[in-house]
Amino acid sequence: MAAVSRPRTVLLASPRSFCAGVDRAIEIVERVLADAGPPVYVRKQIVHNQHVVRGLEQRGAVFVDELDAVPRGATVVFSAHGVSPAVRAEAAARGLRVVDATCPLVTKVHAEARRFAGRGDTVVFIGHQGHEETEGTLGEAPGSMVLVQNAADVADLDLPDPEHVSYLTQTTLAVDETTEVIEALRRRFPAARGPGSDDICYATTNRQDALRSILAEADVVLVVGSPNSSNAVRLVELAVRAGTPAHLVDNASDIEPEWIAEAAVIGLTAGASTPAELVDGVISALEDLGPVDVREHRVTEETIRFALPRGVVEHD
Ligand code: F3S
Repeated sequence: MAAVSRPRTVLLASPRSFCAGVDRAIEIVERVLADAGPPVYVRKQIVHNQHVVRGLEQRGAVFVDELDAVPRGATVVFSAHGVSPAVRAEAAARGLRVVDATCPLVTKVHAEARRFAGRGDTVVFIGHQGHEETEGTLGEAPGSMVLVQNAADVADLDLPDPEHVSYLTQTTLAVDETTEVIEALRRRFPAARGPGSDDICYATTNRQDALRSILAEADVVLVVGSPNSSNAVRLVELAVRAGTPAHLVDNASDIEPEWIAEAAVIGLTAGASTPAELVDGVISALEDLGPVDVREHRVTEETIRFALPRGVVEHD
């Protein structure tokens, strides 16, 4: 990229980067590696970030898509996105030692799915097809759950009993879009019941609120995250819907010079699975282009921490 002389502002949305569920999942793999030694098998990417996955691979983690790639009797870690009961049963049948890094906020949604299906409802799950969290949650009550991805899908629903309908959502959706889908669902099925508290998690909500708070000032937004990170992609979409050009970058080398050539104020944020150092790398790359004034706009403090699962050895 060619250097420019005029000063730019980099407006950092805060909170950004790791959430408590991602912190916990990575720590679980690190602790199991320290305790049991490599190889430690991990089903799917532990969190949706290529840098995190590569770093753990270098330390002896082996990422597999399915459990049949794990030797019988070995230790396997389930990713932060959760697994279906069928996967748990398969692990038991193969004699695997399971360490579960499912985010507790995903586990909460699984419990709701079982409870809602158990009271005889059809459970409408609002989420993205093919995402691991969606597959895991739908697996809790396969005969009683249906997936909708948007408001248009709601119009196509053909449910057995309109009086017995519940809904749940993926934890990493866009808050505004999900509200539209729920409204559409309630119009079609006025008796539909939702969870006691929102399924979209605090970290997703906070990162969207923080980004929204800087959009009026930003000429362009850079979201640091991997393409398979649901909450990072939602951040890009949120900015674009609000009329601000936005781009997903896995790291600083992905930045195209023309995106920022005319930008006096660059908004910067990162998905919940993005390491903070990748954001620092983007700031350094921008500083290489000329003087930069970095300002942070914080909308809330995050203090949530999740306990490690039983059986994960504490070395500290
Ligand atoms: Fe959990 Fe939300 Fe992070 S569901 S893994 S706290 S994005």
